[in-house]
Amino acid sequence: PVIRREDYAPPAYWIDTVDLSFDLDPTKTRVLNRMRVRRNAEQPPQPLRLDGDELNLARVLVNGQGTSFKMDGDQLVLDGLPDEFDLEIFTTCNPEKNTKLMGLYLSQDTFFTQCEAEGFRRITYFLDRPDVMASFSVTLRADRKRFPVLLSNGNLVEQGVLEDGRHFAKWVDPHRKPCYLFAIVAGCLAAREQRIVTESGSEHLLQIYVRPGDLDKTEHAMQSLMHSVAWDEARFGLKLDLERFMVVATSDFNMGAMENKGLNIFNTKYVLASPATATDVDFDGIESVIGHEYFHNWTGNRVTCRDWFQLSLKEGLTVFRDQEFSMDLARTASARAVKRIEDVRVLRTVQFPEDAGPMAHPVRPDQYAEINNFYTVTVYEKGAEVVRMYQTLLGREGFAKGLALYFERHDGQAVTCDDFAQAMSDANPGSTLALHLDQFKRWYSQAGTPRVTAVGQYDAEGQRYTLTLSQTCPATPGQAEKQPFVIPVIAGLVAPGQGDLAVSLHGGEPATAHTLVLTEPSQQFVFERVTAEPVPSLLRGFSAPVVLNQDLSDAELLALLAQDSDPFNAWEAGQRLLMRQLLAAVTGAGDLAAPLQADAVAALRSTLRRSDLDAAFKALVLTLPTESYLAEQLADVDPQRVHAVREAARRQLARDLAADWAWAFDEHEDNGSYRPDPVSSGRRSLAGLALGMLVELARETGDSVWPGKAYQRTKDAGNMTDRYAATAALVNAGHALAQPALTRFHDLFADDALVIDKWFALQAAAPDRGGDALGRVEALLRHPDFNARNPNRARSLIFSFTGNPAAFHRTDGAGYTFWREQLLAIDAFNPQVAARLARALDRWKKLAEPYRSAAHGELQKVAAHPSLSKDVREIVEKALAA
Ligand code: ARG
Ligand code: ZN
Repeated sequence: PVIRREDYAPPAYWIDTVDLSFDLDPTKTRVLNRMRVRRNAEQPPQPLRLDGDELNLARVLVNGQGTSFKMDGDQLVLDGLPDEFDLEIFTTCNPEKNTKLMGLYLSQDTFFTQCEAEGFRRITYFLDRPDVMASFSVTLRADRKRFPVLLSNGNLVEQGVLEDGRHFAKWVDPHRKPCYLFAIVAGCLAAREQRIVTESGSEHLLQIYVRPGDLDKTEHAMQSLMHSVAWDEARFGLKLDLERFMVVATSDFNMGAMENKGLNIFNTKYVLASPATATDVDFDGIESVIGHEYFHNWTGNRVTCRDWFQLSLKEGLTVFRDQEFSMDLARTASARAVKRIEDVRVLRTVQFPEDAGPMAHPVRPDQYAEINNFYTVTVYEKGAEVVRMYQTLLGREGFAKGLALYFERHDGQAVTCDDFAQAMSDANPGSTLALHLDQFKRWYSQAGTPRVTAVGQYDAEGQRYTLTLSQTCPATPGQAEKQPFVIPVIAGLVAPGQGDLAVSLHGGEPATAHTLVLTEPSQQFVFERVTAEPVPSLLRGFSAPVVLNQDLSDAELLALLAQDSDPFNAWEAGQRLLMRQLLAAVTGAGDLAAPLQADAVAALRSTLRRSDLDAAFKALVLTLPTESYLAEQLADVDPQRVHAVREAARRQLARDLAADWAWAFDEHEDNGSYRPDPVSSGRRSLAGLALGMLVELARETGDSVWPGKAYQRTKDAGNMTDRYAATAALVNAGHALAQPALTRFHDLFADDALVIDKWFALQAAAPDRGGDALGRVEALLRHPDFNARNPNRARSLIFSFTGNPAAFHRTDGAGYTFWREQLLAIDAFNPQVAARLARALDRWKKLAEPYRSAAHGELQKVAAHPSLSKDVREIVEKALAA
């Protein structure tokens, strides 16, 4: 059954208050739910239909009296109700058997909940939709020894001891909320606590709850939380509205984290970190996700979504906010650019393929079978790019004004993406956005990545440069024709040897950068006072989520790489150059010894040697485009060929820059104490890249010095970033020292689940050498530490394998068979995780033979499976229909 956005109707009833009491028991938890319900006078009279899922219903009372009811599928239907009444529902559920990790479940003998999007109905019967907002009070009762900590949203108002070794706690949430923000936690946990006084003088208690042995790994999360509170108040005037703000970590979690009001629940991956166990990437991930969930307190919780089609209203906006937070914390311009490049890389390698494949959907989808399938990179990351375009069009101040108006109008409400757009526009009358608002909103309704083509012409005599920009957008499923978008293109003109020219646009004030706003299918922009023939630097900072087609020569790209004042575009020019040469090697017949041309290699060398650039930025310039991004550029993909070319280019870089890599390693190796700041993490990143290259090169030369150094590091590295990089260098090169390094790694961290996840992931993602990867993964599947029921572990092995193109795409199709078997096994207990795995074959139609037929065959087998979840069914049916 497909749910459509156009079918939205307000609820027939409101639930004003909810009083829940839980008798927590692992196999039979009893839930008493007492609600105050009121008919919505604006809707025609109709029965009350409450959602439920896998509940045992024991009793229903209306105004204290037994009543008749019927079941319609999973819904509890009550008819003949008064206009206002008390409704009491008593149910039980079995948390221990809850393997879907939605609703109330157990993880390491602790109770957790996950309600977004539709998990609350697995706890009690309710109007499980975000536009029904209620005041919640919650009483928890449980065994005192086994479950000493009892948490829910809001404030703790009462607690005490009960007989039979039990105790209780009562929580009242002062804020009305939709049920998807409800949460409880009960178990044996310890908290890092921090009292803070904010800029505006209010006092709050911040708590991070983890298993007692993990307390020493919560410092970074607490720091990130304190920074988040301060940042939201400083940048947007958004204050913490709770006395107590809690974060709890669990090692069994389907996603990254969840913004339950006042009680965020996190995957341990985004909380726990110590220099010895977490990499720089992990530290950054914690900062972003702690920020993300905290920022939801306003964008998501104070103002929430009317229905799930509006998901990007809170997710796109909150991703944008967490990206800005990390950029502001990064402080230097170069570190900001590095963050931007990383975000754009995710967009291009994951969202662009989604937007071009069978699951393509608008930022605000029009229909779904299973909403969990729409927590996508399109809704999140492309949604964030759409929010960023408001800021680009309105400026930082105009954007802040728009956000203020949004809260002034909608605080406490459940609203739509249209409401957000309207607030942005109304706060900035006369702006380009206001002028083109309806057209701008096509970003919400049209799927697909727009293509912008740029053609320039220089008139030396008139010192005039005419730039023609035109746009198209490919068809996507269900959307054959597209209307033009509003596309902000930040542009500068770079004169080789002189840098940015200050030029005037259409007779305006001279400036080195202009925001061109493309609204027509094709438009001309005329720059004057252009004193030298320029190279256009377009889409600076990636000012719109589009593909830019621009015919630049190698020399022009090299000029931008060396001289563009916009670091994003300098990086971009280097990537374009590399990509062009890699693609030529993939499609050409030529020999693979040296896919890269000498001038490109020389440019990379001089970038590496420049003293005015940050190491983090250099590492990004010197990293080749990923195999999946390369594959996206091709019509008929042979993943083995793409892999062979990229590996050949890596070996070429290793060889041609051998002395430079050795210099880079020695120069950037740190011996000081570990700090996860952008400068020192950039140094580690570049040193790690260099070491990988040097160990790779040793495969050819037989050199044992660099592998020896790497091996030494796997023993004595002072932090996980260096240890991981050294281990990966050996594993990726297939070096004989890889095995002893892996064994040591496992022995050292056998008790640390997050590090063991890395151990699995490293092996599953290592290059395939003569088809050995699948066997390696199958052996790891039988390792005593493997457990598919733990989502992090399943992802670390199985998803890492399907994300390793040359290992997964085998000419014999065995990778796809493995995929089907794992997918069906996981689907039987956790459909949400299985549906993510199902996405691995999204792009099967792009594959060349024999991959394509083999993939098709396995997809058909999955679709024919008799007991498929609706989650997986939606994905594979779309893939097959494409
Ligand atoms: N709202 C959460 C976040 O992005 C994600 C929750 C997704 N959960 C789910 N079951 N789909 O911060
Ligand atoms: Zn979110």
